[in-house]
Amino acid sequence: MIINRPPMGWNSWNTFGENINEKVVMETADFIVESGLKDCGYEYVIIDDCWSLRERNEKGEIVPDPEKFPHGMKYVADYIHSKGLKFGMYSCAGTLTCARYPGSYDHEFVDAKCFAEWEIDYLKYDFCFHPHSTFGHFLYKRMALALANCGRDIVLAACSWGDENTKTWIKETGAHTWRSTGDINDSWESIKRLAQEQMQVTEYNGNGCYNDMDMLVVGMNGEGNVALTGCTKEEYKTHFAYWAMMGSPLIIGCDLRKADADAMEILKNKMLIEIDQDEAYRQPFYINGGRYFNKSRTANEPLYEYYPLDAPILVRFLANGDLAIGAFNFRDRKENLFAQLDSIGLGECTGKTLEMTSVWTGETKKVTNGTILLELEPHSCEVYRARVVDK
Ligand code: GLA
Repeated sequence: MIINRPPMGWNSWNTFGENINEKVVMETADFIVESGLKDCGYEYVIIDDCWSLRERNEKGEIVPDPEKFPHGMKYVADYIHSKGLKFGMYSCAGTLTCARYPGSYDHEFVDAKCFAEWEIDYLKYDFCFHPHSTFGHFLYKRMALALANCGRDIVLAACSWGDENTKTWIKETGAHTWRSTGDINDSWESIKRLAQEQMQVTEYNGNGCYNDMDMLVVGMNGEGNVALTGCTKEEYKTHFAYWAMMGSPLIIGCDLRKADADAMEILKNKMLIEIDQDEAYRQPFYINGGRYFNKSRTANEPLYEYYPLDAPILVRFLANGDLAIGAFNFRDRKENLFAQLDSIGLGECTGKTLEMTSVWTGETKKVTNGTILLELEPHSCEVYRARVVDK
């Protein structure tokens, strides 16, 4: 089975950690439908770690914790499916999961059979407690084969955080997504670190097996399992926009039932979702290597500096001939960025320019003098969908 778009949905880990149960999961499914998030494309409802008992049963199967999931997993799956959504679960390539529940090591085919019987649609597959006598690629291949032969279409979302040079072998395994970053937490520093790490691995991203930058923290506001300081609205906007520019899976991590208006506005941004899900799925490139005009320079500093990691401008060629252009300021001071249309392929001789529509305000402006000029507040971003037009 193949998938042709980065998955979108919700996962329990960022907010609930160990405190999950069928009520939370089913209420979240209700909310996804009622709030219109389903219509925006969010479809997977994923239970992360901590859903099972600590021991397998006598048949060697993993058993859902009856206190957390009193009606079993098929019941939850049926409910989620009745809402027109898809159901995701979690296991681990090691002997134990990261939170020390049973992992699927040496039980891959037994577990895949259970998952198929419960009618799950997606399996996040972690990498804690894997025996060091074997390699990650063997373990992901095992589970991929088990799923591919379980009689049901199940997305395999590998989660080995880039360890053992995952990028070089993950496509062989049959995984549909792979975690190309470490774990996120709800802070600006974490968002910045993951964003910058991702710049090193964009060439490994592509249709069929998507780079996964980890679940979103938009709307957590400093509360929940991976909460730290929380972020400002501007920072959550930058986070979501960057994940969309990179074409990451968009998996919400906040308690949706308590999500505030700012979070919903960000998570529902139609133009960004369209960029994320663009069918051509080309990778972004950096124009001018993120070179920016150092307006606040001191006498000894150069007029222009190269900080592609700190203030990148990313461009993505979309399926219908439009472009997505995203400028991001990861620095703590205001920045003035500029980029020449020449570096996008629209040199002077083409007679063409861009008409750019802001994904945040919907305002449209035409680029003049062959140069895009942007002033960005600290931690903010501007993202546009641009159309090629006559000058
Ligand atoms: C790892 C993963 C996280 C989460 C936890 C659960 O750290 O990277 O996304 O699934 O395990 O224990």
